[in-house]
Amino acid sequence: MLSRNGFRQSCGGLALVALWGAWSAAGDVASIGVSIKNLDEAPAGYRHLLQNDFVPPQLDQEVFESLWRTWEPELKQKAEQASAAERRELTLTRYGLLEAPGRVGGIPLQYADDGHGGWVLNCFSCHGGKVAGQVVPGLPNTHIALETLFQEIFETKQILKRKIDPGEATTLVVPLGKSNGTTNAIIFGVVLGAYRDADLNLHPEYPTPKMIHHDHDAPPWWHVKRKSYLYADGFAGKGHRALMQFMMTPQNGPEVFHKSEDAFKEIYAWIETLEPPKYPFDIDPSLASVGKGLFNKNCAECHGTYGDGTPFPGKIVPIDVVGTDQARLDSLTPAMRHSYELSWFSNHGEKKSVSDPGGYVAQPLDGIWASAPYLHNGSVPTLYDLFYPDQRPVVWKRTENGYDQKKIGLEYTRYETLPADVKGGKQKRTYYDGRLFGKSVAGHTFPDALNDEEKRAVMEYLKTL
Ligand code: HEC
Ligand code: HEC
Repeated sequence: MLSRNGFRQSCGGLALVALWGAWSAAGDVASIGVSIKNLDEAPAGYRHLLQNDFVPPQLDQEVFESLWRTWEPELKQKAEQASAAERRELTLTRYGLLEAPGRVGGIPLQYADDGHGGWVLNCFSCHGGKVAGQVVPGLPNTHIALETLFQEIFETKQILKRKIDPGEATTLVVPLGKSNGTTNAIIFGVVLGAYRDADLNLHPEYPTPKMIHHDHDAPPWWHVKRKSYLYADGFAGKGHRALMQFMMTPQNGPEVFHKSEDAFKEIYAWIETLEPPKYPFDIDPSLASVGKGLFNKNCAECHGTYGDGTPFPGKIVPIDVVGTDQARLDSLTPAMRHSYELSWFSNHGEKKSVSDPGGYVAQPLDGIWASAPYLHNGSVPTLYDLFYPDQRPVVWKRTENGYDQKKIGLEYTRYETLPADVKGGKQKRTYYDGRLFGKSVAGHTFPDALNDEEKRAVMEYLKTL
């Protein structure tokens, strides 16, 4: 049965609302060190993501405004009777779409405007999220309901009797994500990459690759500048071309990649300027300073130290030692990683790859308060749960905007199992179900070396990063 997570009740919801109101009223949208009031003043990299059609458009205003016609009867009726503004809000919330800083009220953050009425899915579908209701471009989008969104765009186009591109139906063949906020992104890359040679020419005759479908929680972009190698397994050398894998839709031949390279240099440059947002609630400085000492003794050998300018170690920890879910590691074979190294994305071998990493990177922890849920598969909703491995929730559901200051992370409800009235994929995907393949909540038991008091202190320190 359902048990409300106890910490939340003790943490004074009203104080939180008041504090947050003051924070958000004090300035405009918190956008990681840059405040974006309109697109003309925005950094070039951000503008490209909101205005360039790197892939073909997926929908337009009319399809967006008609999506509600595919919803469950009760919600559909609510949408039908709502004002246009309320209906927009319902639509954004259903799919994890957000108002774009600099373009509020227009096309959401997760789509670029192609200048001809077309909406083009962009990186912010996975990399533009919100924490405690504040939109932060570069923060993982832990609300994105990609599978539900794609399905319902498809159904809406059928209702509107739109022409449907044959390629569009095939996107529904590969699972997009089994829980909202995480996606099967790695396998999109595997599938799309499998039919290209090292120069990105298309070869439909190439064999179908091995696909281990699993969901991943996107990492925050402010980590990129601390790294030399990207991804959970740290396999790929960093560079602007690595970011262009997103463009591998069959419509894009090699020349489209070459043409877009300059824009991606600016996107990469912008990503490298990003800073984590500061923890906006109370911190106990003396407890945090005790925590710092404990962190440096127990955690820094893997995660590095902070605030002293030392480079991030980028340590890959063997899977047997870290013990977290293995699907992501197994989903790329040494041959796939090697052929990535020899491809255009790695300047034909100039940038090195690690073919057989054997584990996961101990990620940088800058801004860790903001990037819940934790671990590469997004299985752990708060830092508290990360610090108490044997008490972690297995089935849980987060609230839309709640931030749990005590447990540090998502406000959520824990379940023993999915409630009986939850039926069908769309409803199931609003829960995290750690019993599914690739979604294990186990592993990373290192904090168990600390006692309760020491855990509290280290968590307090993590708020300061
Ligand atoms: C469908 C979701 C999705 C989209 C769209 C997407 N990404 Fe990602 N991205 C991910 C996931 C998931 C990972 C983590 C993969 C891993 O670690 O194995 C990731 C990893 C990255 C990383 C590595 C970060 C790190 O710390 O190692 C960068 C950089 C990045 N993405 C940039 C981009 C850019 C730029 C775009 C658009 C051109 C983009 N992504 C589009 C989901 C997505
Ligand atoms: C032996 C190496 C090692 C030690 C020691 C270690 N960690 Fe980790 N940590 C990792 C690895 C590897 C991951 C990534 C695991 C994954 O995503 O599957 C990780 C992930 C994390 C995450 C989640 C990061 C994210 O973005 O989701 C946090 C938070 C964290 N560690 C905190 C700590 C703290 C605090 C300590 C000390 C008490 C600690 N770790 C000790 C290796 C280590």
